[in-house]
Amino acid sequence: MLPFFCLECTAPLNIPHQYSCSECGRSYRLLENIPLLVRDEAGYIADMINTYFQFLLLKSNEIEKLKNDFKYINSRSNLLERLTEALNENNKVIEVFIKKLEKEDIPLIQILKANRPIGNISHFKDFTYLKRDWCWLAEGEKQLSIITSCLLKIIDGHFGELDNALFLGSGVGRIALELMDRFDKVYATDLSFSMMYFFNELLQGNELTFYEINYSNTLSDEFVTRKLTASADRFKRQQDLVNFQKLNYFISDVTGLPFLDESLASVFSVYFTDVIALKLFLSEVVRVLKPGGLFVHFGPLGYGFENVAEKLSANEVKERFRSSGFDIIYEDIIPASHMESDYVMDAIQLKNWVFVARKHKVGHPTLKTTDLLKLAPGINYQINGTLFSQADQSRNTTVWTAEGLCYALNEISADIISEVSANALSADQLISVLKESYVIDDSAVLTDILKDLISKRILDFN
Ligand SMILES: C[S@@+](CC[C@H](N)C(=O)[O-])C[C@H]1O[C@@H](n2cnc3c(N)ncnc32)[C@H](O)[C@@H]1O
Repeated sequence: MLPFFCLECTAPLNIPHQYSCSECGRSYRLLENIPLLVRDEAGYIADMINTYFQFLLLKSNEIEKLKNDFKYINSRSNLLERLTEALNENNKVIEVFIKKLEKEDIPLIQILKANRPIGNISHFKDFTYLKRDWCWLAEGEKQLSIITSCLLKIIDGHFGELDNALFLGSGVGRIALELMDRFDKVYATDLSFSMMYFFNELLQGNELTFYEINYSNTLSDEFVTRKLTASADRFKRQQDLVNFQKLNYFISDVTGLPFLDESLASVFSVYFTDVIALKLFLSEVVRVLKPGGLFVHFGPLGYGFENVAEKLSANEVKERFRSSGFDIIYEDIIPASHMESDYVMDAIQLKNWVFVARKHKVGHPTLKTTDLLKLAPGINYQINGTLFSQADQSRNTTVWTAEGLCYALNEISADIISEVSANALSADQLISVLKESYVIDDSAVLTDILKDLISKRILDFN
């Protein structure tokens, strides 16, 4: 079954590739063959057209300003020509987006009134990501290889079953594609029509040309503009580019994902967690992840929005995940330069924060009293104390999970570990054994302790 649901009525969308709801009858538009899975399609298209118009306006003003700046500087008139050409060529690409979207017949008044452009238009990042991901420049490949090797290490170390993965704010898609062979199914989604349009064009085998523009910090005036061509020709696993059984990409808003509850095994947020406030999408991550599912973050917490109250630090982000039912199972800092260009003298150095949070298995619907409980794979534990004496009462038990997390266990949890390490026991059997040593009237208390150990990946069940 497809994991998608209808944003209108939450019924499963069970007609492959048509994106229409058999329950309420709503059918979702395709924009240039890319599914548009948002609640308000017309509002979305109006916002996008408005965003691209604003960009054009900004760039036209930039050209006018350049003409003014260069007015009496004849010796650099060649540079003015090149800059104007570069800006005009990039504008032509934007005009293509507007033309494509205009075909959707959105009333002009709605476009003019649109007031939710995505991000800040002066930070329009599409060309920058296209350059890093699909122009095969050494500097872009270097950053990508740092990101992907870190993520591959995490996937290989922490994913039990290679099931599905969703990439939030996936941009022009290269990172999702690089990790694709580790999963049975990969979903890539972005709110930007242009990002998804570029990705789609590249997958169709088309080339895209545009200009890099560097107003300052260049070693030579030749480097002020650079014509670039993006293409997927050099992607190493060409078969993945056309594996549309495995790769599914669509436009959606992470604040309202078109996925059924508990349908995804992993969610990746690469350079995305700081794009919008965490509170706007954390509940969606919690909802769509299966129990035991993973959230993987990679990137800084630079925050591209204004509201300081929502600019959380790393420990606060972890705390939000913990209080939403996750354990933090991995953390690291990976330095890398960001969007470096060999043509310019400065570069942004990022300390990319990486963390992985696992959603608790507590409340897993399949946890039954007849399920067999055993120690989770890779568990080590150590008991300190004196055996066979009264001092036994003061023993300390420490356990290390496969992910390297360390927990000090209380008496009853330590007894549970000892019992199941000898023999796999059903939850029922274990509760009866424990009731011989502990005075506990309500079995639910013991069940909760078992669930806590399962969520910490100390116990496993089947
Ligand atoms: C900083 S870029 C990162 C792109 C990509 N993850 C990468 O690292 O190459 C952030 C992306 O998030 C997208 N985005 C912003 N708001 C979004 C939202 N509400 N839902 C989905 N995507 C969004 C932007 O369009 C942009 O492509």
